[in-house]
Amino acid sequence: MVDALGVAVVGFGWMGRVHTQAYARLPHHYPRLPLRPRLVAVAEEVPGRAEEAAERFGFVSATRDWREVAADPRVQAVSVTAPNFLHREIGVAMAEAGKHLWIEKPVGLTSSDARAVADAADRAGVQGTVGFNYRNAPAVESARELIASGGIGTVTHVRIRLFSDYAAHPDSALTWRYERERGGSGVLGDLASHGADLARFLLGDICALTADTAIFVPERARPSGATAGHALASGGEPGPVENEDYVGCLLRFASGARGVLEACRVSVGEQNAYGFEVHGTRGAVFWDFRRMNELRVSRGTTYQDQPVSTVYVGPDAGEFAAFQPGAANAMGYDDLKVIEAHRFVRSIAEGRPYGTTLTDAVHSASVLDAMVESARSGRWVGL
Ligand SMILES: NC(=O)c1ccc[n+]([C@@H]2O[C@H](COP(=O)([O-])OP(=O)(O)OC[C@H]3O[C@@H](n4cnc5c(N)ncnc54)[C@H](O)[C@@H]3O)[C@@H](O)[C@H]2O)c1
Repeated sequence: MVDALGVAVVGFGWMGRVHTQAYARLPHHYPRLPLRPRLVAVAEEVPGRAEEAAERFGFVSATRDWREVAADPRVQAVSVTAPNFLHREIGVAMAEAGKHLWIEKPVGLTSSDARAVADAADRAGVQGTVGFNYRNAPAVESARELIASGGIGTVTHVRIRLFSDYAAHPDSALTWRYERERGGSGVLGDLASHGADLARFLLGDICALTADTAIFVPERARPSGATAGHALASGGEPGPVENEDYVGCLLRFASGARGVLEACRVSVGEQNAYGFEVHGTRGAVFWDFRRMNELRVSRGTTYQDQPVSTVYVGPDAGEFAAFQPGAANAMGYDDLKVIEAHRFVRSIAEGRPYGTTLTDAVHSASVLDAMVESARSGRWVGL
């Protein structure tokens, strides 16, 4: 028996679309899931955008006011895919209205925002899933298992890199992302939040760090109309970029391992160059998002000149089997969101967390807060 789960999406930009498509694809990939999402409502402040989403994707109703979604008894679960400054207000209100939350990272502007949403969800007894999608990649789950099983020996150090060019164009529009009030931090919330989550997912807790940040494109053009994603605004009135384009960070883990986390949004020639290199006393494992279904692995007992092999992950890895029948049939970015949607809906069906949680968001946001503090003070900061 499959029951309907009334879902709503708040904020219909890039992530709003991706969440919506993930809900729609759930029955295709997870036919035994006992709950089937029904697209009940979409809320979006740009005039006409919610109606267009309803028409295209089949939401029953469309509104410009997310409060109508909070008050709608047909809605049991909500995707919060609006800009960062709204995560806290919308997340807390939805939880208090008894809606389960699938909320995008970084969950607010600071760790106190993430904690407020986590506390509200706890009080209301609703499930909370967070958009740390890179840990859903089957190859990343395999890497984690390899590391945890001692397959590369004792972990010594990790390098996590998230480089992109999405803000490299000097004409890219001065959207909410570049403002302190609406975006909070810059590349910290955008990319380093994923890096902090991956670091903890793979290696456990970070206990101290020191960070340096920089703004490399200090002005951008103000857009003349509504934007979504990373729009250009050639010729617009210039305005100041208020948050960092770059962060470089040294990490110490509770395990004694060391790490480097570097993230940049203005790296010309780098497109979604996200990945990690984890080194241990007897081996290493490497992952690059652009070759999402592959791991490079070095293991054995030769230490020097030890070969590295490419492993194409297959149905044994994570949730790969829900998408493809055999290794080297590539999965893509949107599939990671289908996995996330599955874990969200499964956690609602089973009444217990499954996959990422709001606690993960609090941990990631605390690491970002420590980076901000370290960049300000020039000192190591403990966590
Ligand atoms: N997990 C990931 O890989 C990933 C990738 C990109 C973005 N994100 C996160 O997703 C969130 C959205 O990012 P995006 O790239 O989709 O941004 P976007 O700018 O494309 O979309 C945001 C949408 O929210 C709408 N909005 C703004 N105020 C609103 C309000 N009061 N009510 C309803 N809608 C409102 C905007 O008009 C816009 O359509 C951010 O928190 C971002 O950090 C996550």
